[in-house]
Amino acid sequence: MVSQAHDPNASSGPQRIAAEATGPALPAKFEVTQLSCFIGARRVLRDLSLSIPARRVTALIGASGGGKSTFLRVLNRTHDAAEPLRLTGTVTLDGEDIHRPDVDVQRLRRRVAMVFSQPYTFDTTVFENLVYGLRAAGVRDRATLEDRAETALRRCDLGALLDDKLGAAARSLPLGLQQRLSIARALAVGPEVLLLDDPTGSLDPATTGAIEALMSALRAQLTVVFVTHSLQQAARVSQHLAYFDEGALIEAGDTRVLFTRPKERQTLLYLTGRSA
Ligand SMILES: Nc1ncnc2c1ncn2[C@@H]1O[C@H](COP(=O)(O)OP(=O)(O)OP(=O)(O)O)[C@@H](O)[C@H]1O
Ligand SMILES: [Mg+2]
Repeated sequence: MVSQAHDPNASSGPQRIAAEATGPALPAKFEVTQLSCFIGARRVLRDLSLSIPARRVTALIGASGGGKSTFLRVLNRTHDAAEPLRLTGTVTLDGEDIHRPDVDVQRLRRRVAMVFSQPYTFDTTVFENLVYGLRAAGVRDRATLEDRAETALRRCDLGALLDDKLGAAARSLPLGLQQRLSIARALAVGPEVLLLDDPTGSLDPATTGAIEALMSALRAQLTVVFVTHSLQQAARVSQHLAYFDEGALIEAGDTRVLFTRPKERQTLLYLTGRSA
């Protein structure tokens, strides 16, 4: 259930924290305006306003329990399927409110795909994992399915799986490969946005490096938003950074600017490993 507690057309309020302008303004893929999120009586996101630029990598950072995963879930309405949440405020994707009652949620999730921290593969073959979303979207043509599966694997630098692993059980693969397969499956449906919740949290350094390289490469074609607990990873991969604490957005902007000249003392303390 979503209630609109304010005028979604209102101009930026004092809560808005936009990207630092280091060049021409980037178009926003998402505009989040005065978003609050309640679980029961508890407010887990607090009056949060944030622009997420298109074709950039945005990293969400902050202490555990700060609301990063909740925020990510709101962006593709994964929360609809989980705990009933109550939201106020607006989230637009390319200018359209994603919580309008006439929004096709399945289509939204094809446009805005999600990858979780733990590799999530289905108990089927590598090929069937890759084409799961396409089949769900009604694609039946075998040649199309094979073509899209191959393209997704190659995008994730997993072309080696094409040789003899398409028929293998996805869950027989090492965890790192399963996570990259999860990303390939998400990409196979052709999303415009890829959300990743701490995608390398449980992985070895080599796989972490491959996923970081992939996130960086993907921004040529799509918008990436990811959660990380690694400040180094946020610095390496993102151009845009948002720091959450206790459900509030403390500061957001150009990654280099935040690391070198944050506006908020709390951001400085967090980024330098000291507590607020
Ligand atoms: N299903 C739920 N039921 C009750 N409380 C929840 C639920 N999901 C999240 N919360 C609460 O919402 C707050 C934000 O949690 P969230 O998981 O979004 O934080 P996070 O920043 O992703 O943390 P972490 O870094 O540990 O992943 C926390 O206080 C958490 O306990
Ligand atoms: Mg989380």
